[in-house]
Amino acid sequence: MVIAGPPEYMGKRRWFILAIFVCLLAFSCGRELMAEHKHADNHLTAYNHSLATILVEYASAVYMSDLTQLFTWTCPRCSGLTAGFDIIELLVDVEHCLQSFVGVAKDLNAIVIAFRGTQEHSIQNWIEDLYWKQLDINYPGMPDAMVHHGFYSAYHNTTIRPGILNAVERAKKYYGDLNIIVTGHSMGGAMAAFCGLDLVVNTEAKNVQVMTFGQPRVGNAAFASYYSQLVPNTIRVTNDHDIVPHLPPYYRYFPQKTYHHFPREVWLHNIGVGSLVYEVEKVCDGSGEDPDCSRSVAGNSIADHLVYFGVELMCETWRSCGIVMDSLAKEYGKMDVKGNIVFSRDSSILRMKTETNIGGDRM
Ligand SMILES: *[C@@H]1O[C@H](CO)[C@@H](O)[C@H](O)[C@H]1NC(C)=O
Ligand SMILES: *[C@@H]1O[C@H](CO)[C@@H](O)[C@H](O)[C@H]1NC(C)=O
Repeated sequence: MVIAGPPEYMGKRRWFILAIFVCLLAFSCGRELMAEHKHADNHLTAYNHSLATILVEYASAVYMSDLTQLFTWTCPRCSGLTAGFDIIELLVDVEHCLQSFVGVAKDLNAIVIAFRGTQEHSIQNWIEDLYWKQLDINYPGMPDAMVHHGFYSAYHNTTIRPGILNAVERAKKYYGDLNIIVTGHSMGGAMAAFCGLDLVVNTEAKNVQVMTFGQPRVGNAAFASYYSQLVPNTIRVTNDHDIVPHLPPYYRYFPQKTYHHFPREVWLHNIGVGSLVYEVEKVCDGSGEDPDCSRSVAGNSIADHLVYFGVELMCETWRSCGIVMDSLAKEYGKMDVKGNIVFSRDSSILRMKTETNIGGDRM
């Protein structure tokens, strides 16, 4: 679906500025005639459709605001393809309005880490702000790699990172050395990318896989190049006219200076007309900025941002960082002075679960 006119929630002036940028983007997003750069695609991962349909459900579940249901994996989105997930830690950074969980999916033989997208203010304001994001911090240890400070800090400079690293450590202790799959939608996708990279660079984790949905750009071309060498097993799913993967803008005349996606994009879109419409999943080239994928169309839809594979990627309602907690949640939760909460299964519960559920397979 495409936004037809100025919605009520935006002032006229803001809408006007947005319109100008959409026009600029339309120019910069046109099909390129010359394919100058041939990229070595062979080190990149293969796309697995059924894995994508599973991971999108994890990326959806992490939006749930009832923390007890989420922590006990009984929420309305905690069934279907994610049933039986052993959640190990649920992290709620109330101060920065972030939410994330770590657990073990036995059917995938993997630790799954999921990050929620933005829940502050409105999605429209958040998207509008994306136009102006600067490449304003150097990624540590990677010369010339610039990223956006806000996305970087959301993962690196909040209660989220220490919570995740701790939970991954505990999961490995009790379940063995599983693969790690990191996922997230929207800003949660940006955080998933920083998390996957962090696990590879700073914890020397092996077998890290990242799959994001509707993720914005996070850094420049130098960053994208380091990223894809270090976390080659990455898929960035984009949906039809979803506006967010087009942001912050990429200007093809200045490919080294502006934001640049890392590979590999998989673009979901419909082709055909009338009753002959069918959905295509296009596996894009290794450049990160394949002109024949989402960049071949205008990014002008918020609706396409909020549903991937028919799964809703937002809270039940938009509100400013609401959390719902009852006495059970309080029993497991630890709150710091700023109100940030970590729900953790302690080691005795984990050990018990390991022995009853998958102990037999592993010992
Ligand atoms: C794709 O992922 C599913 C779910 O993890 C797995 O069962 C299947 O074997 C994978 N397919 C390939 C070709 O790797
Ligand atoms: C991390 O956050 C603190 C306080 O919120 C801030 O003073 C500091 O500059 C931040 N560091 C980075 C690298 O963003």
